[in-house]
Amino acid sequence: MAKLFINEKNKKGHINAELYGNFSEHLGRCIYEGIYVGENSDIPNTNGMRNDVVAALKEMKLPVLRWPGGCFADEYHWKDGIGPKETRKKMVNTHWGGVTEDNSFGTHEFLELCGQLGCKTYINGNVGSGTVQEMSEWVEYMTFDGVSPMSELRKKNGHEKAWKVDYFGVGNENWGCGGNMTPGYYANLYRRYQTYVRVYDSNKPIFKVCGGPNAGDAYWTEEVLKTCFENVPKESHGLMNGLSMHYYTVPGDWSVKGSATEFDDKEWYKTLSKALYIESLINMHGGIMDKYDPDKKIGLIVDEWGTWFDCEPGTNPGFLYQQNTMRDALVAGLSLNVFNKHCDRVKMANIAQLVNVLQAVILTDGPKMLLTPTYHVFHMYKHHQDAELVDSFIEGVRTIGEEEEYMVPSLQESASIDKDGVITITINNLSTKDSEDMEIAFAELKPSEVTSAILTNEAHAHNTFENPDKVKETEFKDFTVTDKGISFKLPACSVIQFRVK
Ligand code: AHR
Repeated sequence: MAKLFINEKNKKGHINAELYGNFSEHLGRCIYEGIYVGENSDIPNTNGMRNDVVAALKEMKLPVLRWPGGCFADEYHWKDGIGPKETRKKMVNTHWGGVTEDNSFGTHEFLELCGQLGCKTYINGNVGSGTVQEMSEWVEYMTFDGVSPMSELRKKNGHEKAWKVDYFGVGNENWGCGGNMTPGYYANLYRRYQTYVRVYDSNKPIFKVCGGPNAGDAYWTEEVLKTCFENVPKESHGLMNGLSMHYYTVPGDWSVKGSATEFDDKEWYKTLSKALYIESLINMHGGIMDKYDPDKKIGLIVDEWGTWFDCEPGTNPGFLYQQNTMRDALVAGLSLNVFNKHCDRVKMANIAQLVNVLQAVILTDGPKMLLTPTYHVFHMYKHHQDAELVDSFIEGVRTIGEEEEYMVPSLQESASIDKDGVITITINNLSTKDSEDMEIAFAELKPSEVTSAILTNEAHAHNTFENPDKVKETEFKDFTVTDKGISFKLPACSVIQFRVK
């Protein structure tokens, strides 16, 4: 028997909706086919955006979307993607499959997409191969409402009013694909480039994201922060609002990552253990940030995370198309619980990537679309968005796994309370075999209204275009409510959500 204690009286911080963000790069079939099919497509669309995909993402309550990369961002020249489509410059997407990019999806299309989704906008600028002027003019083009060369150009291209850019990333992975820089060199460029990311309207602040470390690279974090904090007023917080971090869960190594659908129990636990490592990374980089920013004014922005497997056999290796099983659902469930619990420092997270790439929430095949197990987790967790984290702890957690190095807890949870006093609890059962008898107890609350949803199946289960609903969220009714709390049996290999009043 495991007992989950929730102290709903002890609020521990605000869970930014943006922890449930996503990422869309010009990579494989993410943008083209996955989101944008063009106005003349037979696939039902609104201004070129697939209606089925947009509706599913709205239902999932997508809060923020990052674009255009990734590695693509540091090769992207935004002026190639504006104006009449027939005159837009074609380029080679060198990072991702060497395919021709016709730039038919550009700034206007991305901001139209976010408008349809009702989500916040996160644009990633080009430091690796772009100039300060180019970055500065992009911001002016998108956000300046007065009279200026860029605002006039925007109007000429059919958009009268300025858009709102909520987040702006100054480069991407500049330690690697974004220019192979040293931290000191990048940090100086960051200082310079961000100066010209002008906020034209004080009612529309732009949250500036500085390029942070890859996984456990503490040296990068330390050096970047040291340089950015040097000789700047204390109140400017190193000239940044956020510092990014990227971490991918790869069961094998980068040459043989492992199959998305074929794995044994050993690889299951290894994957989950590697996914949970993200908490150590948050603690480690958060610790370095605490030295410079003890008041936690700078957010840790986990703007790329998720599973990365070998791509599906027979698909273009540069397109990073992978299937998505219950193992991905557990990786998502665990990671989102970790982000919730670290909401004092983690202010945004963007799973990679939205459609058809890596740990996607949606897969498409021509006019067909399916929701992956990962989608259902985001859907079940959406009630945490903008709620307050509350104290929670599970007594009776066992350590399970098959290799000493990759043991995991049998259960993991987080809980929050929203503005209407509804408590959302999300729990993961990491075991492939063992169900758990569980009880939830509250500090004071005597539950009067309880609803629950569950995602559970065999570890390898996934959705295909032939069987798109094999893994899906269902209502869970098999619990009893008493004065003391809620009791139930949690099936093996499951993600469960309770909503309690
Ligand atoms: O998400 C795929 C790639 O992974 C991104 O382009 C890059 O930033 C990271 O290395």
